[in-house]
Amino acid sequence: MSTINHHRRRFLQYAALGTFTTTLPGVVFPESRNLNRIPDSAFKPDVEIALTAQTTAIPILPGASTRVFKYTGKLLKGPAGTLKELPGYLGPILNFEQGQKVRLFFYNQLPQPCVTHWHGMHVPQIMDGHPMYAILEGEQYVYEFEVKNPAGTNWYHSHTHELTARQVYQGLAGLITITDEVERKLDLPGGEFDVPLIIQDRSFTPDNQFYYALTMHQRMQGFLGDTILVNGQHNYTIPVKTRAYRLRILNGSNARIYKLGWSDGSPVTAIGTDGGLLARPEIFPYIMLAPAERVELWIDFSGYKPGAELALQTLPYQISSMGMGGGRGRGMGEGQGNRDTIVRFMITEQVSDSPKLPDTLVPIHRLSERAISNPDKVVPINIGMHRMTFNLNGRTFEMLDYMEQEKIPVNTMQKIRISNANSAMGGGMGGGMRGGRGGGMMGMMMAQPHPIHLHGQQFQILSRKPGYADSVYATVKDGFINNGWKDTVLVMPGEEIEIIKPFGDYTGLFLYHCHNLEHEDMGMMRNFFVG
Ligand code: C2O
Ligand code: CU
Ligand code: CU
Repeated sequence: MSTINHHRRRFLQYAALGTFTTTLPGVVFPESRNLNRIPDSAFKPDVEIALTAQTTAIPILPGASTRVFKYTGKLLKGPAGTLKELPGYLGPILNFEQGQKVRLFFYNQLPQPCVTHWHGMHVPQIMDGHPMYAILEGEQYVYEFEVKNPAGTNWYHSHTHELTARQVYQGLAGLITITDEVERKLDLPGGEFDVPLIIQDRSFTPDNQFYYALTMHQRMQGFLGDTILVNGQHNYTIPVKTRAYRLRILNGSNARIYKLGWSDGSPVTAIGTDGGLLARPEIFPYIMLAPAERVELWIDFSGYKPGAELALQTLPYQISSMGMGGGRGRGMGEGQGNRDTIVRFMITEQVSDSPKLPDTLVPIHRLSERAISNPDKVVPINIGMHRMTFNLNGRTFEMLDYMEQEKIPVNTMQKIRISNANSAMGGGMGGGMRGGRGGGMMGMMMAQPHPIHLHGQQFQILSRKPGYADSVYATVKDGFINNGWKDTVLVMPGEEIEIIKPFGDYTGLFLYHCHNLEHEDMGMMRNFFVG
């Protein structure tokens, strides 16, 4: 509790300076927030970036430009190449190196509160973008952290209380890459052969503006757009050479889950997950990628002829036996699991040499049950629903509060059991679920997949226990990467997943939540208090 008291003291200092505003309709700012408004002179940054969230208009579809929220960046200090602008509405790609000390001056020029989270990165509480640290229009927040994560692909996005879904939808997201010694030795495809792909679905009004509105049904399943954008581009085609590429794929969608597969039926080769590279390449028929998850693919175009085209698609799948989603073939937007093209690769140039896929990538210490600090205590994350609102462990989000079971001793290794069993069709109706039985509309709404994300350090998956109809699960089950470091795991209806997670270094409040952003904003989010 001393952290909270410390923050409260800092708050009183700010309040005394008269720099504090708490009155804004619909916005909850706890009194105890400690806004990090000025740089710490003891922190010696290797990299300094000014990052501004602002409104602007960007051409996406032919015709009128689309009004968006956009992160714009300026490199103030550090290696050239730290910041890479993408055309479109997404923020610049931030290219970091492990061990770098990074300072970001975040300016909010939006007409609403905003806070930025470095998704996947292991940083102290006050640098983590907890919604308690939202700042108002015209204000500044200084983020300072050391890059502790290994090489991999992370991202940043808004995390504003009850506004995350809308702000991310409007454009507030960007990619982060991290490189390190071990990765450099592997000599993976780099430069133009290292391709970021940020997948998002959007809907548009007739005058090309982002359409966002939630019916009751959309609130329950999350907002699904009818148009796929990649890196903010519509109908995106990438010219490639006949050689190997590294694709860094982020599902930056609010709610849509993709089943990634190649248009010619080729298997999909994964080399990395949320938290970095895998121990060795792994081959899948398709890969399920839920909101916030990342996957890095190896694709070798050397077997293709110039003029040929290969598309990355999302393939049909089902989430429940009741017909929601499941490729009814009436286009996107209606449900999860419809087939669509994500991005096309056009082979335009013949080259003679290509790097070979390494047999092994990075050493991964596989965590086992033996590593758990208190083996008899499993931390529960029970997905439930009450009064048409999803919850975690029976409670919705409370800005600064946590339950006894959400207290985690710092520098321990915990086993966590995430259960979506309450939403299983026709069975397993336990505590936490009230106001409905298995079937009908209610049951259909309840049987939702939930991408569960935990802030702080990356975790590993110990086990998955499917809990619903085989014929439905069969449409997704071969697409889960269960090795490697993860910060988000897709929990299908009825499923129970055990993970093992270190809680090292930093004390304080760290969020865990559903990364279906509509679910997050409805309160499907809680704090762990690490202390
Ligand atoms: Cu990407 Cu708490 O979020
Ligand atoms: Cu996060
Ligand atoms: Cu959810």
